[in-house]
Amino acid sequence: MPSDSTKKVFIKTFGCQMNDYDSAKIKALLGKDGYEPTADPGQADLILVNTCSVREKPEQKLRSFIGEMRPHRQRGAKVGIAGCMAQHAGEQLFKRYRKDVDLVFGPDHVPQVRALVEQAQSERVLQNSFLDDDNYAFVRETTSEGRVGAFVTIQKGCDNKCTFCIVPATRGMELSRPSALIVEEVQALVAQGVREITLIGQNVNSYGLKVPGELNFAQLLYRVAEVPGLQRIRYTTSHPRDMGPDVIQAYRDLPQLCSHLHLPVQSGSDRLLRRMKRYYDRARYLDVVAQLRDARPGISLTTDIIVGFPGETDEDFEHTMSLLEAVGFEGSFSFKYSARPGTPALRLSDEPVDPARMQERLMRFQTRQQELQLAAHKRLVDQVMPVLVEGASKWDEQVICGRTSCFRMINFPGDASLAGQIVDVRITRGFTNSLRGELAESPAGA
Ligand code: SAH
Ligand code: SF4
Ligand code: F3S
Repeated sequence: MPSDSTKKVFIKTFGCQMNDYDSAKIKALLGKDGYEPTADPGQADLILVNTCSVREKPEQKLRSFIGEMRPHRQRGAKVGIAGCMAQHAGEQLFKRYRKDVDLVFGPDHVPQVRALVEQAQSERVLQNSFLDDDNYAFVRETTSEGRVGAFVTIQKGCDNKCTFCIVPATRGMELSRPSALIVEEVQALVAQGVREITLIGQNVNSYGLKVPGELNFAQLLYRVAEVPGLQRIRYTTSHPRDMGPDVIQAYRDLPQLCSHLHLPVQSGSDRLLRRMKRYYDRARYLDVVAQLRDARPGISLTTDIIVGFPGETDEDFEHTMSLLEAVGFEGSFSFKYSARPGTPALRLSDEPVDPARMQERLMRFQTRQQELQLAAHKRLVDQVMPVLVEGASKWDEQVICGRTSCFRMINFPGDASLAGQIVDVRITRGFTNSLRGELAESPAGA
């Protein structure tokens, strides 16, 4: 056990921005009971793993993590499983790991983490019920963890039923967080030094629609943009069906809104989009892209792609490849379809795609995506772009890094004291995943 009296918590986070956010909230809440975050499980009194079940074999990752933590538990640390697997497979995990795990709790119970950890000191605890909307309270404690960018949740859950997706079963029905509390959190984070906020939810475009009198998503963007000192706004994730003209208009009106949008398309084939129950077609997607580019010339677009969804033919896949060319995505996350427990797509599994063919399609997509990215980055050489400095680069103390408004990572020589400032950087080289540059001029006041 650590020799000092402070308690320490180690959190391993898998999955998406919702889990990153939940882990930050867990740290903020446990901080009130004297827990300090540590990056070393060997120093920890409490070890938590925030799990994700969206793809592939999360059970294996979890099993190996729990195995690695066994010696720490034997010396007295408590071990807990949180996140999406804890939600949908809590009972099994609680039984399977009865000798290795003290606490299992789903995302709805993050706000109660202090009480759960306290209870787990004397007995094993399982808490994975869904809370109804009246009993759920979004956590108000904030921590920027010293960073210039922070996530702010605007909704939990998802009311869509995309046939491949387990998220509605792990995060429950969509619930919008009151806009006043969102603005309050943004203000608190800006006061802690944050300059860039990313509003997060599984389908941000449907924010507020179920709540009489609440702002809608576009109105929320305008409201958040009024917070003094906030320089940049991003948001994720958007659903192409729900990307309305009012949000597109915001790209004309709000300079704080960054020139990048992640707009998951999943497939370029109308036949597959129907089978996935995405409720838009390729033409609608391309129309949204055209409107966005009209509203904000040069906006960069990234996406998510699933290859090998049940029944995907060579022709369907060619439609995905041609969509990649038609949009010219600046980046993408692409995944092999992975059958998830309880999802509607399991009923389509009589038409599985051969795993070798799936792998081939993934490689073809990713190779072409990387070529497009590299070409786009090379075209930027000699341009000057505003960059929000995040701090020293991981590899070289003389080099600092940050992101352009269009979300490209750029490294350039400079002083880490510029963190939090927006500086003009001339791009000198383009690589596949990042840019290299040099300060174009001294920042104002420096
Ligand atoms: N709410 C977001 C995405 C959440 S999951 C949206 O609607 O776009 C993140 C990504 O994981 C998805 O966009 C999808 O591309 C991928 N994904 C989800 N379920 C999957 C599955 N069963 N197999 C493979 N990829 C999946
Ligand atoms: Fe899953 Fe679809 Fe909801 Fe995204 S919108 S979380 S893919 S069900
Ligand atoms: Fe994974 Fe849950 Fe996010 S399943 S992708 S951590 S909502």
